[in-house]
Amino acid sequence: MKLVFATNNAHKLDEVRQILGPTFEVISLAETGCHDDIPETADTLEGNALQKAHWVKEHYGLDCFADDTGLEVTALGGAPGVHSARYAGNHDSEANVDKLLRELEKKSDRSAQFRTVVALLLDGKELLFEGTVKGEILKERRGTGGFGYDPVFMPEGTGLSFSEMGPEKNSISHRARAVNKLAEYLKSL
Ligand code: IMP
Repeated sequence: MKLVFATNNAHKLDEVRQILGPTFEVISLAETGCHDDIPETADTLEGNALQKAHWVKEHYGLDCFADDTGLEVTALGGAPGVHSARYAGNHDSEANVDKLLRELEKKSDRSAQFRTVVALLLDGKELLFEGTVKGEILKERRGTGGFGYDPVFMPEGTGLSFSEMGPEKNSISHRARAVNKLAEYLKSL
């Protein structure tokens, strides 16, 4: 089965291709000839994932899936959430992490979760799959791997930040959990 993944993020494509395995041919946006900067203007992860998937369906006529992820911090009322990429500025991870650490300086509750929503449009149906991973925000950065908020996020029961993990991040991550649910659904068809 061929499926378009509405992303041009190489890291995400690799991760998703690994999870879905050889039964599914995952095609990137660029490979479909779409180089658009797809709008993400909804105020929820669900809304953004659906917005991206519908964009591809409406403009290119292709069934597809799209994802959106946010870091939800309890003491900040769920922020940065849907605004995670632009929390402190324009896709600047360093500034985003600095702002998060500053906002949490005087808070005792450092619990947080990553949440990914995957929206699938297939054969006239619209489905959502969610993956979460709970953990806490460290007081300072640890590790060198990963991206985004990885250096300061420690998943429950691991003792390591996402940045200190190798490929095992991909087996427990929010995105992996959501994509595994997508895979289960597709395999059940
Ligand atoms: P996106 O929806 O996957 O583009 O994610 C939005 C923002 O959330 C990114 O710009 C990152 O800052 C953050 N983010 C998403 N996934 C991860 C992750 O696995 N680790 C760390 N940060 C992430």
